[in-house]
Amino acid sequence: MKILVTGGTGYIGSHTIVELINAGFDVCTIDNFDNSYPNVLDNLKKITGKTIEFDEVDIRDKYALKKYFSEKPDIEAVIHFAANKAVGESVKFPLKYYENNVGGTINLLLAMQKADINNIVFSSSCTVYGEAQPPVDENTAIPIANSPYGNTKQICEEILSDQSDAVNLHVVALRYFNPVGAHESALIGELPIGIPNNLVPFITQTAIGKRESLTVFGNDYPTPDGTNIRDYIHVVDLAIAHVAAIKYLLNKKYSSAFSVFNLGTGKGNSVLEVIKTFEAVSGQKLAYQIGSRRAGDVVQTYAACNKAWNELGWKTERSLEDSMRTAWKWEQHLKNSEKK
Ligand code: NAD
Ligand code: UFG
Repeated sequence: MKILVTGGTGYIGSHTIVELINAGFDVCTIDNFDNSYPNVLDNLKKITGKTIEFDEVDIRDKYALKKYFSEKPDIEAVIHFAANKAVGESVKFPLKYYENNVGGTINLLLAMQKADINNIVFSSSCTVYGEAQPPVDENTAIPIANSPYGNTKQICEEILSDQSDAVNLHVVALRYFNPVGAHESALIGELPIGIPNNLVPFITQTAIGKRESLTVFGNDYPTPDGTNIRDYIHVVDLAIAHVAAIKYLLNKKYSSAFSVFNLGTGKGNSVLEVIKTFEAVSGQKLAYQIGSRRAGDVVQTYAACNKAWNELGWKTERSLEDSMRTAWKWEQHLKNSEKK
């Protein structure tokens, strides 16, 4: 069973490749290195003992995609990670996001249809729910998106749903909450380019001395300690969920052609709780101060995960401590490799 992973040298894609191989799948992957580096492939080999079948393909190039599929007749299913993901950047450059995230997905679906590949797992996001009252389940009404990035995820879900109504295509859309942490080996992890937007890379970069201090964006929210609440899911648990989703598709466990699942822990943690957990597992005191609210932040969100528990037979196994410990190990690994 060969699975194509798009965006496979990226953060979640690379962890998913490891878990697919652990589960006995053959994997091939494409990326254009827009937000990742070729050495991830070497590190995947160190972790799995396997050379990863890789081609540099840009999903915006529909001819390259069609050619790729024509040369790989044994692909059974696709896991589609390749996209741009920075919310703020999407506000400044909306067309970049619509071209890559929406246009790229359409190109992929056209090439899959031509190659008669009928199964796809799609990376969606909890951002599609906006300000919904947690715990958020999959039946929550989807409001108007609050960023072009969020809109690309809503549009892609609709395109996938329409296409699954029209042709023999089976889709699992996975709505991730906040992926954090890294592989235990510290050989792969999240590689934010420039100043990180996300909390956990900002924490680890501050602790290692790359940033002076962390600003907590607001402590006057209506939450127990006044800071925002999110559902932080360990990236290895998230990766394992993709294996469960692939098995769900290949074993035809679905009751409709388009299925959607939340992927989270089902538990919310505040920004201050994340900081305290980091301090406890790293033994480092973190330099931070309270700042003003960040525009666009929802007060609190966490997932209702019963659907994934019941239908995918998947549950998170790793704690916030595990996430912070492995994120910290990864940051230290990055520092050591810079020295070499
Ligand atoms: P990432 O940037 O680390 O990985 C994405 C990969 O796709 C990168 O390696 C990038 O080079 C590649 N890519 C981008 N455009 C491409 C193109 N045109 N052709 C080929 N490759 C291309 O991001 P990630 O965190 O691993 O996210 C993976 C997916 O999950 C994305 O679709 C993202 O929107 C979604 N998601 C991420 C989060 C998160 O917080 N990380 C949350 C919800 C959803
Ligand atoms: N935060 C800080 N300081 C920082 C960075 C973040 O206090 O330097 C806070 C944020 O205000 C928020 C929490 O940490 O309360 C988490 O922020 P992240 O940026 O790590 O994550 P978000 O929940 O904002 O982002 C997530 C996904 C995006 C998605 C977005 C939609 O990472 O892909 O939700 O809201 F689009």
